[in-house]
Amino acid sequence: MAIAISRPFDIATWAGLVTATLHLSLDRGIGVPIFRQIYDGLRGAILEGRLRPGQRIPSTRSLAADLGVSRLPVLSAYEQLLHEGYLVGKTGSGTFVTTHIPDQLLRSRAIGRSKPRAASESSIVRERIVPNKPNPANWSLPVVPFQIGLPALDLFPHAAWTKLVARQVRAETPEQLAYGDPAGLRTLRVAVAEHLRASRAVRCVADQVLIVPGSQAALRLVATTLLEPNDRVALEEPGYFGTHRAFGAAGAQFVPVPVDAEGLNVAALERRSAGAGANIRAVYVTPSHQYPLGMTMSAGRRLALLDWAERNKAWILEDDYDSEFRYISRPVGALQGMDTHDRVIYIGTFSKALFPAARIGYMVVPPPLWNRFLESRFAFDIFTPTIYQRALAEFLASGQFARHLRRMRSAYTERRDALLRGLERHCAGLVEVSNSDAGLHLTVLLRAGEGIDDHEVIKEMGRRGLAALPLSSSYVGPGERHGLLLGFGCATPQRLLAATRVLGEILRGSVSP
Ligand SMILES: Cc1ncc(COP(=O)(O)O)c(C=O)c1O
Repeated sequence: MAIAISRPFDIATWAGLVTATLHLSLDRGIGVPIFRQIYDGLRGAILEGRLRPGQRIPSTRSLAADLGVSRLPVLSAYEQLLHEGYLVGKTGSGTFVTTHIPDQLLRSRAIGRSKPRAASESSIVRERIVPNKPNPANWSLPVVPFQIGLPALDLFPHAAWTKLVARQVRAETPEQLAYGDPAGLRTLRVAVAEHLRASRAVRCVADQVLIVPGSQAALRLVATTLLEPNDRVALEEPGYFGTHRAFGAAGAQFVPVPVDAEGLNVAALERRSAGAGANIRAVYVTPSHQYPLGMTMSAGRRLALLDWAERNKAWILEDDYDSEFRYISRPVGALQGMDTHDRVIYIGTFSKALFPAARIGYMVVPPPLWNRFLESRFAFDIFTPTIYQRALAEFLASGQFARHLRRMRSAYTERRDALLRGLERHCAGLVEVSNSDAGLHLTVLLRAGEGIDDHEVIKEMGRRGLAALPLSSSYVGPGERHGLLLGFGCATPQRLLAATRVLGEILRGSVSP
């Protein structure tokens, strides 16, 4: 039974150290985990400036006591905020709000809209219509170890899914055989909105959710709805080839912006958007799990990016393609949830959480853009086929989806660990793992200076029954690095271990003696 705890918590009374008042209401009846509510409350207080940079926050023990909850959810919330860079721990003296989020960013969010700034001086915009790279992606490849972009198709609850689909088909009314809603099935939109609010901290209602046939379709829809040919689009460098395709086909000009350990380098984006005529209309980012290198965008960068978008009246396209799967900490909240100016278009997919052949993805569209997107959605292909939408709505509403995700998280943890063990055992000194905190793939960098070509390595992998994508083809500009994107979703731990042995042999064969 649901118990509602809803009481304001005033930390001004706490030890006389905290001067701001934090109102944190917990409610057990809304289906949002307690840890998430504490996390949201603290994060909101930091973003709105009610908790100031450098300010000490209560110990987990005293906050738990004040809220009347166990220490565990408070610890999880603190851990997550530490991981995302909102808090810093100082040994022996407690936990503090980070000072790395510039004060003025917090202030401008608290006050509301900041004034648009006129574009200035020169810019260094790199332009390219379509990346001049070989086409590495062959999605019809068999399901083999290291194949990128595939979930554990061997563990999908096929029997339960078949039952659901069959029931939907049997119950179909003549009306349901007619044309469907371009926005998507209402029950699915409601279930997706609920899922995104609870597990991704997305701020949305069902009326903003647009069901599309996969996130690739969402990218194409964004390109046709918001861009004119020759408009400039900033892209993470290296980045997702699917985005290069979608925007390239729309005639956009690419502005590659480097990523580093904190995600997209917003200072570089600022420089590239600063010249007269250097107007950048949109920026594409993967903040929860950078594709392909795997890092998580820091809190400071997220705020700086939102601020840049607001000042430049640009759109942020947030691709949250595999954020359900995180191994080092809890899933990181979406960038969309921090947006107070309707600049973020959020894109997600069921290709990883279910299976790619379902072709169901979704977008969360800012209300002012809704009619334009609905119009383009209709023009595109009228609506997404309804039968899987109905089955999926039931899969979500019945709790089977949440159970499936839990099972998959532990399966992927085993698969990832097997891959890391195998790389250590068989490829030590030959590769360097970029980041393995989340998702269904990890990227390894090939040892610099050896002159190994990642395309050549992949050709040999193909001959020996493996697959992978070359890191070098994820770049649209020069200065590419060579490496391999290794998927670990679709193969068992045993097969992954065996595959790393083969990879080690191939790499040793590629290094000149
Ligand atoms: C960055 C990124 N976005 C989106 C997708 C999924 O696309 P879709 O929903 O079209 O299957 C992938 C697939 O691997 C991806 O890597």
